[in-house]
Amino acid sequence: MTFFVLDRQNNMIDLNGLRPLIRSRNYEIYQHPMVECALLKVRVDVPVRKHKIPRYAERRYGNLRQWNREANEYLAALRRGCPEIERLANFMGYSATSKGPALVVEKMTGPNGDLAPTLESERVALGDDLSERKKLHGEFMELLGDLERGRIVVGDLSFDNIVRAQERDGKLVVIDGLGERTLFPLTLVSEAAFRKSIERRRTRMGREFGLG
Ligand SMILES: Nc1ncnc2c1ncn2[C@@H]1O[C@H](COP(=O)(O)OP(=O)(O)O)[C@@H](O)[C@H]1O
Ligand SMILES: [Mg+2]
Repeated sequence: MTFFVLDRQNNMIDLNGLRPLIRSRNYEIYQHPMVECALLKVRVDVPVRKHKIPRYAERRYGNLRQWNREANEYLAALRRGCPEIERLANFMGYSATSKGPALVVEKMTGPNGDLAPTLESERVALGDDLSERKKLHGEFMELLGDLERGRIVVGDLSFDNIVRAQERDGKLVVIDGLGERTLFPLTLVSEAAFRKSIERRRTRMGREFGLG
C-alpha cells in the first residue's frame, strides 16, 4: 500500500523515510512510490554559481538547467517519431517531492529486477575472452549507430550513462546525458558536427574495450 506517500496538504510526493535505491554524483534516485515502472531523481549536489551575475537560465532554473536540455532532446526525438527512441529511457515528466523537484524517468531493470547493470560495470568485468570483448564492443557500436540514425544528441555519453535493460529485451539504453550542454550547441544544428561527434566516440570509446 502506498497511498500514504502523497502529502495531500502540500501536494507533493513524500519521500521522507524512504531509502534511495542509489546515490550518484548528482542524484538520490528513488523508486517512484506510486508508479512501479518509474524512478524519481532528486538533485543532491550543491548549486555552484558560475557567474557573478547569474545568467538568465541560471537565475530561472538554477542547477535544474540540464533538465530542460534533456527534455528538449527527448521531445525532438518524439516529434520525429524515430524508432531509435527505444534507446532512451522514457522521459516521464517532473514531480514535486519533499526532497525538492524530481525528474521522473522510466526505471530500467536487470534480470533480477534491480536497477539495470551499467555498461561500465560490464566493461570493467570483462575477462580475457576476446569474443566477449568483441560482443560488447559490437553492442556499443550498434547503440551509436542507432543514435546516429535517430539523430539523437547525447552530450554526455559515458559508459555509466548506458545500461542493459530488460525492458528493451536486454539492449543497451541511455539513461542520462541526453542533449547538448555547450553554450554553442553545434551538434544540434550541424549534421556534419553531429556525425563527427559520433565518429569520435566510435574511436575514443571503442578503444576502451581492449581490442588492441
Ligand atoms: N532510468 C534509470 N534506470 C536504471 N538505472 C538508472 C536510471 N537512471 C539512473 N540510473 C542509475 O543511477 C546512476 C546515476 O544516475 P545518473 O542519471 O547517471 O546520475 P549522475 O548525473 O549522477 O551521473 C546510473 O549510472 C545508473 O546506474
Ligand atoms: Mg550519469
